[in-house]
Amino acid sequence: MPILGLECLGCARVHAPEAAPYTCPRCGGNLLVRFDLAGARRRLSRRALAQDPRRSLWRYLPLLPVDEAPESGPPVGWTPLFDAPRLARSLGLSRLWIKDDGRNPSASFKDRASAVVVARALERRERVLAAASTGNAASSLACLAAGSGASVVIFVPKSAPAPKVAQLLVFGATVLAVDGTYDDAFDLCVHACREFGWYNRNTGFNPYTREGKKTCAFELAEQLAFEPPDWVFVSAGDGNILSGLWKGFAEFHALGLLPRIPRLAAVQAAGSDSIVRAFETGRPVAAVSGRTVADSISVSLPRDGVAALRALRETEGAALRVSDAEILDAMRSLARGANVFAEPAAAAAFAGLRRARRSGRVRSGERVALIVTGNGLKDVSAARRAGGAPRLIAPDLKSLRSALRRHPIRTERP
Ligand SMILES: Cc1ncc(COP(=O)(O)O)c(C=O)c1O
Ligand SMILES: [Zn+2]
Repeated sequence: MPILGLECLGCARVHAPEAAPYTCPRCGGNLLVRFDLAGARRRLSRRALAQDPRRSLWRYLPLLPVDEAPESGPPVGWTPLFDAPRLARSLGLSRLWIKDDGRNPSASFKDRASAVVVARALERRERVLAAASTGNAASSLACLAAGSGASVVIFVPKSAPAPKVAQLLVFGATVLAVDGTYDDAFDLCVHACREFGWYNRNTGFNPYTREGKKTCAFELAEQLAFEPPDWVFVSAGDGNILSGLWKGFAEFHALGLLPRIPRLAAVQAAGSDSIVRAFETGRPVAAVSGRTVADSISVSLPRDGVAALRALRETEGAALRVSDAEILDAMRSLARGANVFAEPAAAAAFAGLRRARRSGRVRSGERVALIVTGNGLKDVSAARRAGGAPRLIAPDLKSLRSALRRHPIRTERP
């Protein structure tokens, strides 16, 4: 789909795509990709979508910044949406849907952004694709660019969880573990791309990551038969998933496909709550410590904060902070209450929903969609903190009996 221009969220100037590959050349603000929606309307209707056999984000090609869908590669997007009636009841909601984006090829939501950015980069014959990441954006880039002929260079904080780093290495990326934070890795990647002419996929900085992420909103709309929920809950680090959801709902609304835009709720960890603070105080996003068990949302300065705040304000949404203990508890609740194994950053969204119900921000009887952004196997050490340790026994029945006396097996009627 041809792009009309890239609109700056800071100074509102509109740039041609070739003149502004990343942030605003005038003021450094984040850019919003503007499409010819009238042109897209002719190609995207409810009926055309219903007849499209593609079970991936490429069904939305008329609203994506690439000329053609890739010919090969694993399907990204069209992740399952399912009812979680037990959790809905426990929270007093009329419906709770879970959209499990941990079921993407590299097991996180970030595959949506990487799929679109890789396709666009390859159309432009980029040879080296680089990214800084807390881990998921990187592993998705490494996964989706593998075998494409382009090389992948990754900057991760040295504290990135081992499973995410293992994914990077198996997919063949050059991995640079930065002795610093995610924010340090981010800045180094920007300098490196300038110095060596690499293509930069950094979240938020690259305006096309949001374009991939918005497809989750398109899918939610379709999967709910174009009757949007009252709320969509998601966790926020850089705020790019949030701004992507907002853009996606807004575009479907502008196309006449969606009657209204749901309220968006951003959930952050208490140690990494820059967006929540800005939302509460009305001041611009500012750097915070960035410390939390939820490594994927451990961000000091959110790189898509301006758009994230707009998304929250324009949808009359909410911003919530949760403690690490609440996040670990939410991992157990999602697993036991809805059969979903979520990484801490993903479970944080559920912890936030719990808080929003307790405070009354989300009212009883409302309908909520919760996005699970990453699979629990992404961070095994955090999962073990949530789940505890197994009991060691000798390989005989006597030892088993005495273990069962100490810890009887509880049964419940289904
Ligand atoms: C599992 C998971 N959840 C949530 C997020 C937050 O996304 P964003 O940084 O776009 O706010 C990330 C980002 O890395 C993630 O990997
Ligand atoms: Zn600008």
